[in-house]
Amino acid sequence: MIILKSRQEIEKMKIPNKLVAEVLEEITKKIRAGITTIELDRLAEAIIIKRGGIPAFKGYRGYPNTLCISVNEQVVHGIPSKRRLEEGDIVSIDLGIYYEGYYGDAAVTLGIGEISPEAERLLTATRKALDIGIKKAHIGNYLSDISHAIQSHVEEEGFSVVRAFVGHGIGTSLHEDPQVPNFGEAGTGSLLKSGMVLAIEPMVNAGGSDVEVLEDDWTVVTRDRSLSAHFEHTVAITDNGAEILTKL
Ligand code: MF3
Ligand code: CO
Repeated sequence: MIILKSRQEIEKMKIPNKLVAEVLEEITKKIRAGITTIELDRLAEAIIIKRGGIPAFKGYRGYPNTLCISVNEQVVHGIPSKRRLEEGDIVSIDLGIYYEGYYGDAAVTLGIGEISPEAERLLTATRKALDIGIKKAHIGNYLSDISHAIQSHVEEEGFSVVRAFVGHGIGTSLHEDPQVPNFGEAGTGSLLKSGMVLAIEPMVNAGGSDVEVLEDDWTVVTRDRSLSAHFEHTVAITDNGAEILTKL
């Protein structure tokens, strides 16, 4: 069941979502070759707690940390560790925060120093696919119009979308209906309505779309070990169009 949010509820959702954007911005400033992913995780957690929020992923189905940090061929759900980031890595940082009844969720992928031209193209295509998807997120369109627009852009750029994981509704739960796939036919399924709040999150592989989960039961990697990128925004659909709640 899709839960529509009132104007007041969307206003309340702005707090955790803005905090997600601010913490991601802070992490972006600190990220560099030589830093470990657990250091970034601890930093994020400290900022969130200081601001009165609660890390949403920590403890979610037993997930151990505040951030999901997924490097290179890792798609999503990478667990922070003593791994040191290196020049040329691409790093996805995914963050969820709970604050006074509501969730916020967003992700960005960054390059460490100079990255390969292919990695650069992958980041650009994934960021653009999210933008294009968000442009379709308005009343009168179908949910699948978002999905289809994302898939089309990614495939035009010669990359593939992950099918095993999808975006989601978000509100008083981190994951609510509807699922928001990054693929599909346009003009099918649910119509978008005012009050829907969606976490739209393309996961894009440089090679094939297949993924697998490592023995830690969390880290998702590309089956062919090609690079993968991930961008996510939480977006409210209102009578005045899409409002990106995780934008600064
Ligand atoms: N950000 C992920 C999502 O959008 C959730 C991470 S799962 C967790 O669905 F277990 F790490 F929390
Ligand atoms: Co999400």
